[in-house]
Amino acid sequence: MHKNVESILISQQKLEKTVKSLAKQIEKDYNGKEFIMVGLLKGSVVFMSDLMKQIDLDFEIDFMVASSYGGGTESSGKVKIIKDLGVDPRDKDLLIVEDVVDSGNTLNFVINHLMTNGARSVKVCTLCDKPSRRKVPLTPDYCGAEIPDEFIVGYGLDYDELYRNLPYIGVLKRSVYE
Ligand code: IMP
Ligand code: MG
Repeated sequence: MHKNVESILISQQKLEKTVKSLAKQIEKDYNGKEFIMVGLLKGSVVFMSDLMKQIDLDFEIDFMVASSYGGGTESSGKVKIIKDLGVDPRDKDLLIVEDVVDSGNTLNFVINHLMTNGARSVKVCTLCDKPSRRKVPLTPDYCGAEIPDEFIVGYGLDYDELYRNLPYIGVLKRSVYE
């Protein structure tokens, strides 16, 4: 275990099972439908690359970059689109892949942005959800794990751009950011 990790919240083995189960749900729901899987960079990359391999359907992928965090562990609440979709979302069915939903500000903004630009539907698949932290109402359509109010890293999730490469999801030691 990494020296800055307090405890492992979701092991590598458990992540594998979680991803497979989400993939099966998505496969069932989107069978026969066209959709674009949209990853929110950078946090979703590890999750999305594992998830997409388990979905036996034909679909496009794309990426967006939205920012709400500074360097710390709290969302600033102000969301900006740094990189928009590469294609016009008009009349498209989009499935956003996210690492973790916290306040809900980021996804709320991104969903509104895509719907305003004419998307037919926008659904959300998140690996983790911290429902107790929500500031705006948002319920993910697919959720790997509901987790307590802890700052987590690994499997794509960072603190100050580090720890994304850890193969598990761990709770970051408080001494690292306090
Ligand atoms: P929200 O806008 O407050 O819902 O924040 C969502 C974004 O904040 C996620 O896409 C993550 O990048 C980041 N985030 C929230 N909680 C954590 C965490 O525990 N670890 C790492 N990143 C987090
Ligand atoms: Mg993120």
